[in-house]
Amino acid sequence: MTQPQANIGVVGLAVMGSNLARNLASREGNTVAIFNRSYEKTATLIEQHPEAGFIATSTYEEFAASLQKPRTAIIMVQAGRGTDAVIDALTQVFEPGDIIVDGGNALFTDTIRREAAVRSTGINFVGAGISGGEEGALNGPSIMPGGSAEAWQTLGPILRSIAAVAEGEPCVTHVGTDGAGHFVKMIHNGIEYADMQLIAEGYDLLRRVGGLEPAEIAEIFAEWNTGELESYLIEITAEVLRQVDATTGKPLVDVILDQAGAKGTGAWTVQSALDLGVPVSGIAEAVFARSLSSKPAQRLAARGLPAGSEEWSVTDRAAFVEDVRRALYASKIIAYSQGFDAIVAGAEQYSWDIKKGEIAKIWRAGCIIRAQFLNRITEAYAEDPELVALVTAPYFADAVGGALPAWRRVVSGAALAGIPTPTFASSLSYYDGLRADRLPAALVQGQRDFFGAHTYKRVDQEGTFHTLWSGDRSEISATDAH
Ligand code: 6PG
Repeated sequence: MTQPQANIGVVGLAVMGSNLARNLASREGNTVAIFNRSYEKTATLIEQHPEAGFIATSTYEEFAASLQKPRTAIIMVQAGRGTDAVIDALTQVFEPGDIIVDGGNALFTDTIRREAAVRSTGINFVGAGISGGEEGALNGPSIMPGGSAEAWQTLGPILRSIAAVAEGEPCVTHVGTDGAGHFVKMIHNGIEYADMQLIAEGYDLLRRVGGLEPAEIAEIFAEWNTGELESYLIEITAEVLRQVDATTGKPLVDVILDQAGAKGTGAWTVQSALDLGVPVSGIAEAVFARSLSSKPAQRLAARGLPAGSEEWSVTDRAAFVEDVRRALYASKIIAYSQGFDAIVAGAEQYSWDIKKGEIAKIWRAGCIIRAQFLNRITEAYAEDPELVALVTAPYFADAVGGALPAWRRVVSGAALAGIPTPTFASSLSYYDGLRADRLPAALVQGQRDFFGAHTYKRVDQEGTFHTLWSGDRSEISATDAH
């Protein structure tokens, strides 16, 4: 029987799992047990990385026996049924007090269900969002664990040892109980979708209106990466645009099929936000933009439809580039503001004590949306923990206010020129809706009352009202009406 030598185990040795296991093994004080459904992957990892000192196991029993108590295992398998199968197997061989961590991109409601089921056995279950892709898993991801405070006691030091570090602080915090970690990871991904789409819309404008080539746009993005837009996604965009296709000699971006894929976390964000009643319009448009791109038959059928557009000729290219930069920054602020609104609503709905400023902090390094900008979000919540919308914080209100003329020029110019900017445009519309003194929602209430007697409230009197629309059109209060 294997001696219990390992303080942490990893189940699932595909790229993310192996990299996370290697990351764990590289940190002082960690000994890592590894297990994979087929032993072949385990054997390969041991062979390729003898320096890691892995403890290889070939059965769940052996895996459990190799772990010190409380046993702690991180599952890195594909979200879905595979995760349930591994959890079932581990609960057979683990004991009360042990900890099972799901490090995959699980849907947070699945995590809530799994946590309750596993807790009934006395074993702790922690759903942990892990962001940063393969490279992050190896060198330091941003980690968003949920689960119990008891599990966090044991898990905290281990996760702190492998997380990315931003300004001396590890990018991991106990987000909240049960599904809170996976919920916040889901919102991270939703924001990631919006951020990527915004950058793509900016690129499209620079190319089609500014007449710039990918390599030139790469230089512009590299320049933007030194200012307030500084972020991983801007940085890698410059790299992608610089890349030349080895076969054709063309910019690689021109030979990549323009149909964006999606594994589903963006759609989950929007579905959850719809349930919570939170307008995450920027994220939704980004998800839909990918869906539209991936409808080749419809796109082909619609290709010849009239454009009805006007020429957008740019006389001052530098000024145009700056307009696009400002529109991108303002839209980005809206996307983050909406994402944090969803976090607030989720926390309220599921009774999670989520510290918004802490979330912004752990997104500063390691994850895909990492950016300097997140420091401003942390500061905004530190100044006013009850902030009702991020966009109303002085720093962001000023930034958006300063960008407005440029933002309006870009959105209106794109509409006239027939260039799609769904995320730029919807973010501007959201902003105008949010700041409006009065919205046409009053008319919608009138319509609802007309056809369905859904009632309405008045601006000048307390109570609920219904109008007898087809009669003498007099108002009666709802309580009288029913
Ligand atoms: C991360 C990423 C990662 C993955 C997403 C995006 O935080 O490391 O978000 O989780 O790349 O699932 O995938 P899709 O774009 O395919 O939906």
